[in-house]
Amino acid sequence: MSRARVNPLPRIVSGMRPTGPLHLGHWEGVLKNWIELQKQHECYFFAADWHALTTHYQDPRELDTNTFELVTEWLAVGVDPEQATLFVQSWVPEHAELHLLLSMLTPLGWLERVPTYKEQQQELRDRELDTYGFLGYPVLMSADVLVYRARGVPVGQDQVAHLEVTREIARRFNFLYGRGGSFDEHLASGRARLGPKETRRLTEWAKQYRESGDQELWSRIERTLSQDPRLTSEEQVVLLAEARGSGRAILPEPTPLLTRSSRLPGTDGRKMSKSYDNAIALRDRRDVVTRKIQTMATDPARVRRTDPGEPSRCPVWKYHEAFSTADTRQWVEAGCRSAGIGCLDCKNRLLGHMLTELAPIWDRFDALQAHPDTVREVLASGSERARLEARATLEEVRDALGLAHPS
Ligand code: TRP
Ligand code: SF4
Repeated sequence: MSRARVNPLPRIVSGMRPTGPLHLGHWEGVLKNWIELQKQHECYFFAADWHALTTHYQDPRELDTNTFELVTEWLAVGVDPEQATLFVQSWVPEHAELHLLLSMLTPLGWLERVPTYKEQQQELRDRELDTYGFLGYPVLMSADVLVYRARGVPVGQDQVAHLEVTREIARRFNFLYGRGGSFDEHLASGRARLGPKETRRLTEWAKQYRESGDQELWSRIERTLSQDPRLTSEEQVVLLAEARGSGRAILPEPTPLLTRSSRLPGTDGRKMSKSYDNAIALRDRRDVVTRKIQTMATDPARVRRTDPGEPSRCPVWKYHEAFSTADTRQWVEAGCRSAGIGCLDCKNRLLGHMLTELAPIWDRFDALQAHPDTVREVLASGSERARLEARATLEEVRDALGLAHPS
C-alpha cells in the first residue's frame, strides 16, 4: 500500500457547496481565512458536490460548471494548491464508503434533532427535501471530516450543529469499535493496579463527568491517571477512554474553528445573501460593482447633502473598513460627521480602493478560465492526494469493523 506523506502541521478540512457564484462576503469571511490557514496547517479544501445534490437533486445540470467555477474562484483569490490539497468530494469515493458505514450506527434522532433540519425543509419547501439524503447531510459531512482524521474544521456558525453530530458519531464509533483487541485486558489490569477504592472513586468521577461535561473534573481525571506511576501507558489510554465513555480514538473527534462572519453587509444594509438580491458577486466587474456601490444604502439619517452622518450607522463604512487605507477612513469619518463630503464622494473614494484590490482577482479568474486544464489538473492531483489519506483511514475502519479485506 502506498503511504501518505507525513506532514507535521495540524490537519484541517473544510468544504463549500458549488451552488453558484461566490460573493464578496464569502471572500472576506471564508476565503481570506482559508488563505491564512493554509500557511500553518495541512489543509484539505473541497467542493462538496454531493452536498449540493442533497438540496438540488432535481436540477443538477450546472453542478460540474459550478464546481469548476467555484475552484477557479478559490485559485483566483489566492488559495494555493501548493500549500493546500484542493479536490472534489465526488472524486474521492471513500467519503461515500465511510458515509455508508457511519450511517449504520447513527441514530435517526440525532439527525432529526439538528435545528437546521426542519427549518431548512420548511424554508426550501418547493425542493421536496423529505429525502433520505437530506436527512443524512450531517452524516456525509462527518464522513468528509473523519475520513481525514482532521483535528480542526473551519466553518461558520450555521454548521456548528452539524459538527456536533460529527463528534457524537466519532465518539460512538470509537466506543463501539475502539474497544476491540486487548481493550478489556488493559482495563482489568489497570483497575487491579489502582485497587478497588480508587477504581470506585474514578468510576464515580467518570459518571459525573459524562453527565455534566464538567471540564475541570475531566482535567482532574486526566491528571490522576497520567501521574500514576503504577499504570502502563496502554492502561492509561484505556482507562481514560473508559472514563470518557469512549474507546481508542480510531476516528478522533474534530473541533470546529469558528469563522468570524464577514463584515460586509449587502447593498441594502442587510446580511449579504444571494436570496436577498443584495450581493456583490466576486465576478461582478467594474461597471456592475460601481453601480451597486453607488446605489448602496447609507446612513438613513443623512437625507440631504447638508445633513451630517455617522459612519457606524452606514453600510458603506463597513466596506471602507475592509478595503480602504487608514487615510481614507480618517477622511470619511471627519467628512461624514461634518457633512464636509457627500455620500457619492465617499463611495467613489471607496470604489478606487475596491477596484484596485479586485482587478487582479478578475484577471487571474479570466486567465484560469482561458486554461480550464489548469484547474482540472489541480483537482485531479488534489483528489489523488486526498484519496491516499482517505484510503489509509478506510483500511483501519474496515479492520475495526471486522470487514474482510479484498487482498
Ligand atoms: N455543509 C457545509 C456548508 O454548507 C459544506 C461542507 C460539506 C463542509 N462538508 C463539509 C464544511 C465538511 C466543513 C467540513 O457550508
Ligand atoms: Fe456613509 Fe460615507 Fe455617506 Fe457617511 S458619507 S453616510 S460613511 S456613504
